[in-house]
Amino acid sequence: MDEIFSVITNNEDETMLVADKLAQTVGKGVVFTLEGDLGAGKTHFVKGFVRGLGSKSLVTSPTFTLLNVYEGGKYPVYHFDMYRLSSKEEAEELGFNEYFDLKNLDGIVLVEWPNQVEGLINCPHIDIKIEKLDGDKRKIIVGSKS
Ligand SMILES: Nc1ncnc2c1ncn2[C@@H]1O[C@H](COP(=O)(O)OP(=O)(O)OP(=O)(O)O)[C@@H](O)[C@H]1O
Ligand SMILES: [Mg+2]
Repeated sequence: MDEIFSVITNNEDETMLVADKLAQTVGKGVVFTLEGDLGAGKTHFVKGFVRGLGSKSLVTSPTFTLLNVYEGGKYPVYHFDMYRLSSKEEAEELGFNEYFDLKNLDGIVLVEWPNQVEGLINCPHIDIKIEKLDGDKRKIIVGSKS
């Protein structure tokens, strides 16, 4: 990963604000991966991102579904959470690959736990890593992967 920038946030609101502002700078056809331990703040990042696109959709952790779609904003957001994925084949059966044909992607893709689908995200993407620091502090590292 090539680091682009990193930022430290002090609470969930700041993490959401970083994502909100970032969302306002990107166009459709962009894929983000979100790495970080359980409870790092990946889903809160998605919440802020969806808000930044102007959508009022409620962002939740897709517990039993691997994909949530949030409409109502500038672009649809495809939120994958691969934590409970049993195999890469399951993702392929879901049509996961179709989201990486960037020219035809009508929205933005965010993938939690991308290590579960290692090798399947075969397009250039932005990699977000959230590291837990002391207390509510988090380090958000934004990088690119080709
Ligand atoms: N700086 C921060 N940024 C984001 N979340 C924070 C921060 N400080 C504390 N939190 C808390 O950490 C938790 C993050 O939860 P969240 O569901 O976003 O994590 P996650 O990385 O998606 O976890 P999972 O791997 O289970 O999906 C929330 O309870 C949130 O309030
Ligand atoms: Mg989550």
